[in-house]
Amino acid sequence: MKKTIIITGGAGFIGSHVVRLFTTRYPEYRIINLDALTYAGNLENLKDIEKLPNYEFIKGDIVDAEFIDGVFTEYQPEAVIHLAAESHVDRSILDPMSFINTNIIGTVNLLNACRNIWKDDMEGKLFYHISTDEVYGSLGSEGLFTETTSYDPRSPYSASKASSDHLVRAYNHTYKLPVVITNCSNNYGPNQFPEKLIPLSINNIKKNNPIPVYGKGENVRDWLYVGDHVEAIDRVFHQGKNGETYNIGGNNEWMNIELIHLLCEIMDDRLDRAPGTSAGLIEFVKDRAGHDLRYAIDAGKIKDELDWEPRVTFREGLEKTVDWYLENQDWMDNVLSGDYSKYYNKQYKQR
Ligand code: NAD
Ligand code: TYD
Repeated sequence: MKKTIIITGGAGFIGSHVVRLFTTRYPEYRIINLDALTYAGNLENLKDIEKLPNYEFIKGDIVDAEFIDGVFTEYQPEAVIHLAAESHVDRSILDPMSFINTNIIGTVNLLNACRNIWKDDMEGKLFYHISTDEVYGSLGSEGLFTETTSYDPRSPYSASKASSDHLVRAYNHTYKLPVVITNCSNNYGPNQFPEKLIPLSINNIKKNNPIPVYGKGENVRDWLYVGDHVEAIDRVFHQGKNGETYNIGGNNEWMNIELIHLLCEIMDDRLDRAPGTSAGLIEFVKDRAGHDLRYAIDAGKIKDELDWEPRVTFREGLEKTVDWYLENQDWMDNVLSGDYSKYYNKQYKQR
């Protein structure tokens, strides 16, 4: 094997797509998927590749420094792609501490473990940190986030991710650890946990339950198909420059309420319902505390320097996503059993 790569968070939404792409496109890489399998991690996401000879799964918590040091000493990875995180803003409002632990302490544990095994030879090594556009705060109706936009995180989630980004840069500057960071906009696609807007809405529409739209539905997000994101990750992993940050986005801004209407139209078609039926389920509910108005990415740097651009149009990506969820009802039923209903009731029943 040419290289050992530890991918953290590989049984979650984006991580599972990264693991699939790296194991299948690069059989010469040995891919170690390190994941605690929290409510958001699901090995079913990787059933199709779990028997590949270049793939191995390790269950473990990045907050446990001793465990992480042990894994790194044993496997001696040349690279890390770090996706493990608590990732949902609403949960960070209900319970900030798990975000501080995983997103900040967990990231520092991984940085320390890399320093420990790479200290004598940083050549050819890489710590690739996956982050979010939410670190930049909230935009008004104009403007885009660039790589030089000042950090202004406003939720416990985005503040914990901003903190981890700063620590990654600090280890690059202070200890010369080779790093690269990408800050991506909202992803959607197969295998996303149904606490996030798009899969939650697909599931509710299918079951004829209300679609909860926060506030007036006027908040804007820049949506990127997960397949396009993992192509960007591949590009940055192989061609990104040490110490650099690249913003990744879909050039695809949608107001929540308009997105929901498009989704309803696709669902009506797929479920053979009369046009307008699904939209009848829209319910405006109490707004999220501190709800960021608008995120939008200027993805010019990654286009100019690494020749990456999103390829999947929004309608095409949404149709693929809807079809995947409708064809994988078992996946949905499995992730919805267990603790999720407790969270759902706490989050939505009092709104
Ligand atoms: P996800 O919540 O679907 O998956 C997170 C994974 O991390 C899960 O498999 C979970 O088990 C694992 N994990 C959580 N805590 C852990 C711990 N302490 N130790 C080990 N594993 C742990 O998240 P996602 O949406 O796939 O996001 C992946 C990464 O991409 C995150 O770092 C997130 O901040 C970033 N990101 C996500 C989006 C998005 O729209 N989803 C956009 C930009 C950036
Ligand atoms: P989400 O998928 O949680 O991503 P993020 O908060 O990281 O952008 O939410 C996307 C947008 O949808 C955000 O403006 C909040 C809104 N939203 C709702 O209106 N209703 C919901 O039930 C959820 C989960 C989100």
